[in-house]
Amino acid sequence: MVVPESKDKLFHPPDDLQRDAHVPDFNSYLEIYRKSLEDPEAFWKEVADEFYWKKPATGPMLQYNFDITKGNIYIKCMEGAKTNMCYNVLDRHVKDRNLGEKVAFHWEGNSPEHHLTITYQQLLSRVCRCANVLKKMGVKKGDRVSIYLPMIPELIYTMLACARIGAVHSIVFAGFSSESLCERIMDAQSSVLVTADGVYRGEKLINLKQISDDALEKCGEKAPCSVTKCLVVNHHAVRTKGGTSCNKLQTPWDMKRDMWWDEAMADSPEECEPEWLDAEDPLFILYTSGSTGKPKGVLHTTAGYLLYTSLTFKYVFDHHHDDVYWCTADVGWITGHSYITYGPLANGATSVLFEGVPVYPHIGRFWEIIEKYRVTKFYTAPTAIRMLMKYGQEPLQKFDLSTLRILGTVGEPINPEAWQWYHEVVGQGRCPVVDTFWQTETGGHVLTPLPAATPLKPGSATFPFFGVEPTILNEHGEELEGEAEGYLVFRRPWPGIMRTVYKSQERFESTYFRKFPGFYVTGDGCRRDKDGYYWITGRIDDMLNVSGHLMSTAEVEAALAQHPAVSEAAVVSRPHKVKGECLHCFVTLKDTKEFNQKLVEELKKQVRDRIGPIATPDFIQNAPALPKTRSGKIMRRVLRQIARNETDLGDLSTLADPKVVEVLFSQRSEAA
Ligand code: WTA
Repeated sequence: MVVPESKDKLFHPPDDLQRDAHVPDFNSYLEIYRKSLEDPEAFWKEVADEFYWKKPATGPMLQYNFDITKGNIYIKCMEGAKTNMCYNVLDRHVKDRNLGEKVAFHWEGNSPEHHLTITYQQLLSRVCRCANVLKKMGVKKGDRVSIYLPMIPELIYTMLACARIGAVHSIVFAGFSSESLCERIMDAQSSVLVTADGVYRGEKLINLKQISDDALEKCGEKAPCSVTKCLVVNHHAVRTKGGTSCNKLQTPWDMKRDMWWDEAMADSPEECEPEWLDAEDPLFILYTSGSTGKPKGVLHTTAGYLLYTSLTFKYVFDHHHDDVYWCTADVGWITGHSYITYGPLANGATSVLFEGVPVYPHIGRFWEIIEKYRVTKFYTAPTAIRMLMKYGQEPLQKFDLSTLRILGTVGEPINPEAWQWYHEVVGQGRCPVVDTFWQTETGGHVLTPLPAATPLKPGSATFPFFGVEPTILNEHGEELEGEAEGYLVFRRPWPGIMRTVYKSQERFESTYFRKFPGFYVTGDGCRRDKDGYYWITGRIDDMLNVSGHLMSTAEVEAALAQHPAVSEAAVVSRPHKVKGECLHCFVTLKDTKEFNQKLVEELKKQVRDRIGPIATPDFIQNAPALPKTRSGKIMRRVLRQIARNETDLGDLSTLADPKVVEVLFSQRSEAA
């Protein structure tokens, strides 16, 4: 890697940012990067020194086997150390750093009239109260707690309360269906579910308690449901509508199982001694789509995740004490875990926590919030940028965005047009855009620019973060040097990488380590250009990325196939102006069934109900037959080209019946 002197147009860091930056230029980046690979022990030890360890480590900073041919895959960080995540992100600031009065979160509700300010001291007290409530409900170290909450402060309280008592949280994004929630509760075998009565998302009122009850009922269909207690935040009834009298929801209630949050917290003590955990004790499970359709419980542990989220946050957003940081993701995704909760709090940062949606009650809501809280660092997804671009510059011009210094994106490749708009219109040409590539599995950023150090190329996630060693392999597992395109893999672990798939080490090893022994396989394609910049080209497995949300073809296909009229379904993605990709579904109907608009609506609803609104298909096409190989494997490549109307299909010799393709092309325009 050399200091980029490229023929491409580079966007260089602004001088004023470089002046007081943690990593002020590209040479410093290279120097630190080299050290992090040559002496990881010293590098990570220095990072660990900032935190509180009840007992120091007896083992090295990192121990691992990354080579499946040599035995089981494992990663361990700081063996022998005892610590507590919650203590490090809260008590340490309040007790040792005198930051009790500092604002941890500016909570901004769905409606601009609802907002709260939460200091570190307040956060600590509320987390302790919640921890005591969970203990009273019988939750012990190692127990799983499922959390199905919208973006409200109680979501943060609950996750940190789990961390405090050593319980393992499993947060399920509150846009998921009861079916998805049930599946995740059953896999984790959680003993407690924390949810809310309801929430407004924009103008839509969602009855979360009803969805939760449906999920628990489904869980109980085959075996007794593991959840014995359900804690319900009275959010809609009390907070959003100013009193129960305005409560528009019928909140179903089970006297034996359910408990209102307010009542439970009222007499709960504000002190709670943290549970001192082993460095490798689990911190949380977060489910992510798997190519078989069954979600994978990605497991992250304590010490390594703390070091990694904390360090990436500090460097990638060049965090300073007086920053106001806003990440618009939902805590239900990994971005929210790492860069709303743990990373920022580990740094003692002040963040905005936003419950609502970008265009409610008006299309300038994001910009209004940036002005209101004087946001300095802003982190969002390409899909949000593309959606807001549609409204032009006018909505931004009404607000003062001059406090912004750094912009970030995550979730999917950002097209250069959206990058330029973000840079020019939102950042007024002044703010570097950090395009951060990472995954639920990686725990934190792995390819990313550093804002004051890295010359940017729009659309490239640029270079590896400290301690991360990427490489590109061809189909045969051979490493490609220089300019190249192939599979993105990593040669060694960093502290924040996942440790296993919950209850399935076998799936962990086969998904990430079997294809190319010695490497962690991301599942993403990648190109390295002549200047050494990395460009993510998208998923190369059977995964789809819609609005930055990953889902598997199998998951959507299974939902469609559950409809009585469908005999077979195949799902591919096609480009979408706002969402990046959208779903184009091919369905083969049972003999007697007719393809019509009513059926299309039913199928769309079916997918929405089974998985959640984010998975709603944009197109459903009737497919009298699907293109298959002679061995019966659906050729998704061909379907993808049909969906995209690309007529140059290349080699079709492996197809069992090439005529199928013509038929599908001719009927493409009827997709609805
Ligand atoms: C994609 C989200 C290009 C990628 C943090 C990855 C990206 C998947 C980027 C993980 C980026 C994420 N550029 N693609 N900056 N960031 N991706 O687990 O395909 O929800 O494998 O984690 O999103 O999605 P996940």
